[in-house]
Amino acid sequence: MPLKPRSLRVATTADTSLLVRHRRAMWEEMGIGTSASLAEHDALYRRWIRPRLRNGSVVAWVVEDRAGRALASGCLWIQRIHPRPGNPRCLQPYLMSMYTEPDARCRGHARRIVRAAIAHARRLGLPRMALHASDAGRPVYEREGFKPSGEMHLRLPTQRPQR
Ligand SMILES: CC(C)(COP(=O)(O)OP(=O)(O)OC[C@H]1O[C@@H](n2cnc3c(N)ncnc32)[C@H](O)[C@@H]1OP(=O)(O)O)[C@@H](O)C(=O)NCCC(=O)NCCS
Repeated sequence: MPLKPRSLRVATTADTSLLVRHRRAMWEEMGIGTSASLAEHDALYRRWIRPRLRNGSVVAWVVEDRAGRALASGCLWIQRIHPRPGNPRCLQPYLMSMYTEPDARCRGHARRIVRAAIAHARRLGLPRMALHASDAGRPVYEREGFKPSGEMHLRLPTQRPQR
C-alpha cells in the first residue's frame, strides 16, 4: 500500500494521551518540574484538556509522518480574559504545549502548527494571540511575527499550612 503524505490534522479526544506525553516532554526539556510534580500535572492536564478538545475551547494540531507516527503537536486555548479595550468578546487565543520529537526538528513542523493556529485565531476574529516562549520556541514564534510583551511575574513562596 502506498505511504500517506506527511500530514497536519486537527486533534480529537483520541489524541489526549499523545498531547499529555508531548506536554510532559516539553516541560522536561525546559527543565521545569520534578518527577512527582510532573506526574501530578499529567493527570490534571489530561482531565483539563479532554473536555476542552470536545467543546472547542482548545484546538490542537498533530503533524504525522507517512506511517502515522506523531512528530509534533501544539494547542490553541481560547482563554476567557478580563475586559480590555478592543477586545469586547473577552477572548484571547493562547498557543501552548508546542512540541516536536527530537529526531523531527528543524523541518518546519512547529511552523505549520503555529500557522494553523494563527489562521484559526483569525477566523474567530480575535484581535490578539498570546504565548509564553521557551528559549527553543522563541525563534519559531519570532519568525511568524510574535513580539515580546510587557508581562511580568512574581514568584510567591509557598506558605506552610498553619497549625
Ligand atoms: C520549539 C520546537 C517546538 C520547535 O520545533 P521544530 O518543529 O523543530 O520547529 P520548526 O522546524 O518549525 O522551526 C521553524 C523555524 O524556527 C527555527 N528554529 C527552530 N528551533 C530553533 C532553535 N532551537 N534555535 C534557532 N532556530 C530554531 C527553524 O530553523 C525554522 O527556521 P526557518 O524558518 O529559517 O526554517 C522544538 O524545538 C521543541 O519541541 N522544543 C522542546 C519543547 C519546547 O521548548 N517547546 C516550545 C515551548 S514554548
